[in-house]
Amino acid sequence: MRQYIIAGNWKMNMGISDAETLAKELVEKAGTSEGPEMVLCPTYLALAKVAEVIKGSNLKLGAQDAHWEDDGAYTGKVSVSMLKEAGVEYVILGHSEQRSFFGETDETVNKKVKKVLAAGLKAIVCVGETLEQRESGVTESVVKTQVEGAYAGISAEDAKNTVIAYEPVWAIGTGKTASNEQAQEVHAFIRGLMKGLYSEEVAESVRIQYGGSMKPGNAGDLLGQTDIDGGLIGGAALKADDFIGIINAGK
Ligand code: 13P
Repeated sequence: MRQYIIAGNWKMNMGISDAETLAKELVEKAGTSEGPEMVLCPTYLALAKVAEVIKGSNLKLGAQDAHWEDDGAYTGKVSVSMLKEAGVEYVILGHSEQRSFFGETDETVNKKVKKVLAAGLKAIVCVGETLEQRESGVTESVVKTQVEGAYAGISAEDAKNTVIAYEPVWAIGTGKTASNEQAQEVHAFIRGLMKGLYSEEVAESVRIQYGGSMKPGNAGDLLGQTDIDGGLIGGAALKADDFIGIINAGK
């Protein structure tokens, strides 16, 4: 039985003080909540503050990206060891916004996944097709390339420390959610890919989150699908009650 994982990707929202306020509200209202694993992914700047606020609660800390080198002349970047020192357990990698705005490729995602796993942290690997790709019928081949690229050279043991987030790009921040059937179809396809790359055991243990306009109102139905094991939440993670509504839908 896979434990649901509900992660809030706060993106470039919530500076230190807003992040502190939101994290405090979440600790008060859901800090002892049992059920889905709960992860907050604030901006780098707010990681230390959020770590302090959620200490001792059931909420966990995640980051939105990481660089693949240990340290050095990489202006603007943050290393995995820095994230670890800040108390991060999960790192989101390969988000479609990184891919479309900042030149992320399957190769850079793969280097980052390796670095994150080598440090003993867990990777949330994001994949998903654009609207144009869906309409031209290439969703499965796009997702296959992304999954195979991200997991190249990753052992089965390490793969178990990853989560995959299926985020159809056309559903992100648009209010358009993939239907339960559309999402389940791709999730099942991804699980099949993991079986082919590794084994039935790995495929059955890796959790696959859905992301893209997930809200309290649609979370229950999405989470009810066989291969949907959680959510990666953008907009609805910025309001405590909405995020908690989604967590409750996973109980
Ligand atoms: P929204 O929930 O705002 O659609 O964002 C999804 C997402 O990109 C999470 O990583």
